[in-house]
Amino acid sequence: MPVIAVIGAQWGDEGKGKIVDLLASHAQMVARSQGGANAGHTIRRGDRKIVLHLLPSGVLNPTAQCLIGPGVVVDADELIEELAEIEALGLSLKGRLTIDLRAHVVFPTHKQIEVCQEKALGNDKIGTTSRGIGPAYCDKAARRGVRVGDLLNAETRKKSCSALYEHHAKALKSFFKEQPPSREEFLRQAEKWAEALSPYAGDAVRSLREAVAADQTVLLEGAQGTFLDLDLGTYPFVTSSHPTVGGPVIGLGLPPRKIDYVLGVLKAYCTRVGSGPFPSEMEDDMADMIRQKGGEYGATTGRPRRIGWLDLVAAREAAYWNGLSGWAITKLDVLDGLKSLQLCCEYRLGGNPLEGAPLTTHDWESVQAHYEAHPGWDDGRGVREYDALPANARAYLERIATFTGVPIQMISLGAGQEATISASNGPFHL
Ligand code: GDP
Ligand code: IMO
Ligand code: MG
Repeated sequence: MPVIAVIGAQWGDEGKGKIVDLLASHAQMVARSQGGANAGHTIRRGDRKIVLHLLPSGVLNPTAQCLIGPGVVVDADELIEELAEIEALGLSLKGRLTIDLRAHVVFPTHKQIEVCQEKALGNDKIGTTSRGIGPAYCDKAARRGVRVGDLLNAETRKKSCSALYEHHAKALKSFFKEQPPSREEFLRQAEKWAEALSPYAGDAVRSLREAVAADQTVLLEGAQGTFLDLDLGTYPFVTSSHPTVGGPVIGLGLPPRKIDYVLGVLKAYCTRVGSGPFPSEMEDDMADMIRQKGGEYGATTGRPRRIGWLDLVAAREAAYWNGLSGWAITKLDVLDGLKSLQLCCEYRLGGNPLEGAPLTTHDWESVQAHYEAHPGWDDGRGVREYDALPANARAYLERIATFTGVPIQMISLGAGQEATISASNGPFHL
């Protein structure tokens, strides 16, 4: 299977990192196309837990080429730290990581501005990850951003960074009444980043094109999730990029028809971190129990995640928008032992059933989730064959497949690679 896009189908944290790491052992290339260090993708290998924010989750395969595409916003300090962490594991990235020269750079002042913006919103805050993502994409869209390529030449670095500094210093001082860092510090950091990133800076789009032409297996690793998409998600409670399948098309210069397979990652229940509409959010007691059992605390910020029942209406929208070929259902083990479960099968607005997802913020906040009860099951954790899963767990999975019209290709029953079932007749039978 040459080019596979792995897309989060909910509000992020579906378990993309585990799935990409698992598939990466059979891939020659893994690429990130959007988002930045707001992502937190967890890989568990035995007792070791690795959380990646910018490096693709294929880095642990020592032969996989890793790409950071033009659509990503790069937090260079974070990336330098991650590189050191991976190299400390004995894995070299020299010659196998390409950071595209067109990717934009996140500055500490982006984070400072974001904190001020969130503070100004008070109770209406978005609950961002404070990684400077929104302000960095804002500067990109306003065409004043600094790109990795600008950093590498002393003259363009000084020019582009000075212009951005002026803009940020003015916003911080005049608008937010905050003290910006000094211009010297701002420029010094940019120079330090240039030195650290230059061995990896290049043309990720060309590398991808060559890999595709050579029929290599390529994974396109989505960050965040479908309902955090800037256009299709629960705006304004979204991220500032496109976690949907268009992300790699735009953010890696990949023609859409080159994507052979779109794997949607769907947690067996829902979570959301930060503010915003969440139609299937659960009552506190049940949410606390699942949060504990599922370790539902943000991989980037440590914040407790909000918990909801599986929302099949949202999953069906995600399936269509992303043109999903198959599902990877994760964290099914977390639901083991529940007496009964709820599945959100309809949204109603003002008592009337709604076709698809709400279109306005007001409707997203007003929509009521309607549920179908589903009987629970005991313990499926140690199971490695689909047919050996408890019957009610199989019925739950079959309901997901029939409701969304997408076949289930992978089932994850634990954080480790071994705790996975892949459909024996599917493309991921490993
Ligand atoms: P991502 O952002 O989509 O990569 O997901 P995160 O890494 O933020 O969150 C998923 C969490 O669930 C991580 O702590 C994973 O180690 C863990 N995880 C992934 N799959 C499973 C699973 O099937 N069962 C359990 N119990 N944990 C899982
Ligand atoms: P991964 O890739 C879950 C959420 C934030 C906030 C909103 C906007 O690990 O699935 P931002 O910092 O992007 O401006 O925040 O989006 N958010 C995520 N939630 N998983 C993520 O990434 C997220 N990245 C951003 O909590 O609600
Ligand atoms: Mg995450």
